[in-house]
Amino acid sequence: MVQIKACLFDLDGVIVDTAKYHYIAWKELAQELGFDFTEEDNERLKGVSRMRSLDILLEIGNKSLSEQEKLHYADKKNVNYVSYIQKMEEDEILPGVKEFLTSLRANGIKIALGSASKNAPLILNQIGLTSYFDEIVDGNSVSKAKPDPEVFTKGANLLNVTAEECVVFEDAVAGIEAAKAGGMYCIGVGEEETLSEADFVIKGFDEMSLDRLKF
Ligand code: BG6
Ligand code: MG
Repeated sequence: MVQIKACLFDLDGVIVDTAKYHYIAWKELAQELGFDFTEEDNERLKGVSRMRSLDILLEIGNKSLSEQEKLHYADKKNVNYVSYIQKMEEDEILPGVKEFLTSLRANGIKIALGSASKNAPLILNQIGLTSYFDEIVDGNSVSKAKPDPEVFTKGANLLNVTAEECVVFEDAVAGIEAAKAGGMYCIGVGEEETLSEADFVIKGFDEMSLDRLKF
């Protein structure tokens, strides 16, 4: 049996449902650029970095922009997105998450964040979870986006644990690929059909307990 010493958490879609705010902000940008952006399109942006998300959005709208214009619009979308997440409160933490984090801490299991978002510190602060995390690795501290394993291997290094001693929680296919590429056990959070590359899948943290970390 492997002794799990750390849990690494993705943020968006695992701890909070920020996809809805990303969706509104991207949709408003698409409309400004003259095309529509659907909820189904938004699925393609989960786990994907901000600039790559913009590229996908432009591909959907069949638009091309200069690098400078791209930076301008990515920034504009972010200002809009931040206006939504600044209103987030503790009641937006997904069911069971806080209880599970509390039980990890009580049992000496280390906790790190492994998120692609540059807004991760703000979100954790808004929902009052910052102090639960021993380390935070986010879009400001990695150079390679998921599915590259950097965000998780960096977290494991900071926590002083090996890849085999970690469990990653992820809701995005790119994130599961990142965890597996880093040699880590990965629990998918969401739908089994979409997350089939994960070692096992839970619908939410209400289903999670320390016992399920023994394998
Ligand atoms: C990921 C989200 O966690 O962060 C993506 O799933 C998002 O949808 C990415 O594009 C980057 O987020 P941000 O906050 O830096 O724009
Ligand atoms: Mg996610």
